[in-house]
Amino acid sequence: MKGLILSGGKGTRLRPLTYTGAKQLVPVANKPILWYGIDSLVAAGITDIGIVVSPETGGEIEAKTGKGDRFGARLTYIQQTSPDGLAHAVKIARPFLQDKAFVMYLGDNLIQGSLGNFLKAFQAKTLDALILLKSVPNPTAFGVADVDAQGRVLHLVEKPSQPPSDLALVGVYLFSPQIHIAIDQIRPSARGELEITDAIQHLIDTQKPVEAQTLRGWWLDTGKKDNLLEANRIILDEYLGASAIAGTVDDQSQISGRVTLGAGSTLVNCTVRGPVIIGQNCRLENCFVGAYSSIGDQVTLTDIEIDHSVVLAGARIEGIRQRIVDSLIGQRAQLTMAPARPRALRFWSAMTVKLS
Ligand code: G1P
Repeated sequence: MKGLILSGGKGTRLRPLTYTGAKQLVPVANKPILWYGIDSLVAAGITDIGIVVSPETGGEIEAKTGKGDRFGARLTYIQQTSPDGLAHAVKIARPFLQDKAFVMYLGDNLIQGSLGNFLKAFQAKTLDALILLKSVPNPTAFGVADVDAQGRVLHLVEKPSQPPSDLALVGVYLFSPQIHIAIDQIRPSARGELEITDAIQHLIDTQKPVEAQTLRGWWLDTGKKDNLLEANRIILDEYLGASAIAGTVDDQSQISGRVTLGAGSTLVNCTVRGPVIIGQNCRLENCFVGAYSSIGDQVTLTDIEIDHSVVLAGARIEGIRQRIVDSLIGQRAQLTMAPARPRALRFWSAMTVKLS
């Protein structure tokens, strides 16, 4: 079995953060969302993985992610020169996939738990497609399934204005090579894309074995569905292990709960309440860092209080007298404040901000 991670697109929905990078590299708990998908495939024993990238962000993804050694995988990068749909991405990946069954994983999606049971069901029942469904409040934004009382998939429809159910297609799919034959039969949709949903519908229409399973655990889709702060909270809860302090902490500082402090980072007179992850080579002085915060590498925080927030690499925040909450501070952003004028502050920033 092979893996295929789709990591193209421009990430318009995550702007302004994605002006400076690929949406799949936006870190959740200091790790690119894409890497969780790779880890999940490797944990299921899938180590031969193709990553479909766009010309705009492919170089950055490849430079950061590498050839796969760090994951125990072999990564092959496949260029999709135009964003012509998920089924088009499979089509261009065909020389890589050959006649192997594969798990297709959307690079900005993440599902809770292991892929193992889905793989077992797919193989035991010799299915041509196994799809995962999850009830959502806004099905019009997704592919949606119409299922009968026995859970059989009757019909799939992409971004319907009148959804037949609230069951969205999750961005993780298992396919046999039959999917290539189906893709060869479909035409671009109204939005001009070759839709994977239409290809699966073609399998259903031609009586091929297609099954759906409802996902019980959480599903993150940082490209569409989930706010990065929400994703950060869930991942810190689930993935952050016991405290690991590689940096230096002075006598005036207090740490409680699960806190990771990267090598080369220093805390001076700080209070940190986990779960919190702080990257490498950071300097925090006279700060309070509250639960569910992720601080990237090379960040400088001085005289601030921050809670339930994400600060990306290289940012500098100084002397903000109000507590910063529910905020997302972009790479290398600088936040400083001139004296006076207290106010409530919520940031969603990728730029330099100077408050006066
Ligand atoms: C794609 C699929 C859609 C699925 C969604 C999950 O949407 O076409 O069926 O529900 O991913 O993230 P797109 O990213 O093309 O909008």
